[in-house]
Amino acid sequence: MRNESPTPSHDQDEDDFLCSVREGLRQQPKTIPPKYFYDAHGSHLFDLICTTPEYYPTRTETAILERHGEEMARMIDTSCTLIELGSGSATKTPLILQHLAKDAVYVPIDICEPHLLNSTQRLQAMFPALKMQPLCADYHQLPRHALKRQAGKRQVVFFPGSTIGNCTPDEAVTLLKRVATLVGPSGGLLIGVDAKKSIETLNAAYNDAAGHTAAFNINLLNRMQSELGAHLDADQFAHHAYYNDEHGRIEMHLVSQCEQAIKLNGESFEFAEGETIHTENSYKYSAQEFKQLARTAGWHLQSTWHDDNELFNVHYLSQTAAEPLKLAR
Ligand code: AVI
Repeated sequence: MRNESPTPSHDQDEDDFLCSVREGLRQQPKTIPPKYFYDAHGSHLFDLICTTPEYYPTRTETAILERHGEEMARMIDTSCTLIELGSGSATKTPLILQHLAKDAVYVPIDICEPHLLNSTQRLQAMFPALKMQPLCADYHQLPRHALKRQAGKRQVVFFPGSTIGNCTPDEAVTLLKRVATLVGPSGGLLIGVDAKKSIETLNAAYNDAAGHTAAFNINLLNRMQSELGAHLDADQFAHHAYYNDEHGRIEMHLVSQCEQAIKLNGESFEFAEGETIHTENSYKYSAQEFKQLARTAGWHLQSTWHDDNELFNVHYLSQTAAEPLKLAR
C-alpha cells in the first residue's frame, strides 16, 4: 500500500463499547447502538447478508453504480479527493474509482482496522496509480479537521449502502452537517439511500432464509460475552426484524425468550419474557423525503439515479443550489 497507514485503534474502543452497552441496557426500552455490530466477525456476517437473495440494497445499488458510475465521476470531479465513510470491504468503490483521474485521492474511513487494511490493499492493487490514505476512525466522531484539505482539490464524501438509514432523522441531519463541514463549501456528497417499498420485500430483506441477519444480530451478544465478560445466554435471545410503517423504518431487536438477566460489570439487567434489546433502525426514504432531510442540513440535491423498480436511490448533493464550475487547478 502506498502512503500513510491507518491511525491505530485504541483501548478506548472497548471502554466505549462497555459504556454504550451499560447505558443502553439501563434504558427503557433497552437499546444498543448498531455501530457495535461491526467487529471482524460482524463485518464478515454483513458481507454475507449482502450476498443473500433477499437483501436487495447491495445488488441494486451496485447495478446503479455500474450503469451510471462514469456520469457520477464526471459530476463529482474526476480529480477529487474521494472520502468514503464506513468503507468496510469497499466492494462498490471500484465502480467510481475506475472513472477517476490519476491525480485523484481516495480516503477510506472505517472503524474496523483489519477490514480497512484488507480492502485498501485490494483497491491499491487494482488502482496502483491512485493515492490512498486509509483512516481508522469512527466517522460519527471525526474531528472537524481530521482530513487535510489540499488547495484546489475538491473533497467529495462517498457514503453508499444506505448507512445513513441507520441514523434517526435528527442524527442524519447532524451527520450531514458534519460532512458539510468536513468537505467545505466546494465539497460534494454522493450517497446511497434505500427507498420505501412493499412491506413484504422489506421484511424479507432483514429476515434472510440463510440466517445471516439473525447471526449478525446475535453476534452483539457474543461480543458482549467475549470482550466485556458479560454473563448471558445468547441462545435465550431471538432475532426479530420488522418494518415499522409509522416511523418508516426496519427495526431489529433481540427478544428475550424467557425471564432472565444479563450480568455486566457487577450490574444485573433484568429481562421479562418477550422484552427486547432494540439493536438497529434502518430508515427508508423516498427521493423527496431525502431531498428535504438533506436540505435541512444545508445540502442541495443535484442529481438522483435509481434502478428501474425504484428500490434504491443514489443522490449527488452539493452545498450550492447550482453546481459550481470545476475548480481551477
Ligand atoms: C449497513 N446498513 C445500511 C444495513 C441496513 O440495511 O440497515 C445494516 C443491516 N442490518 C441488517 N441487515 C443489514
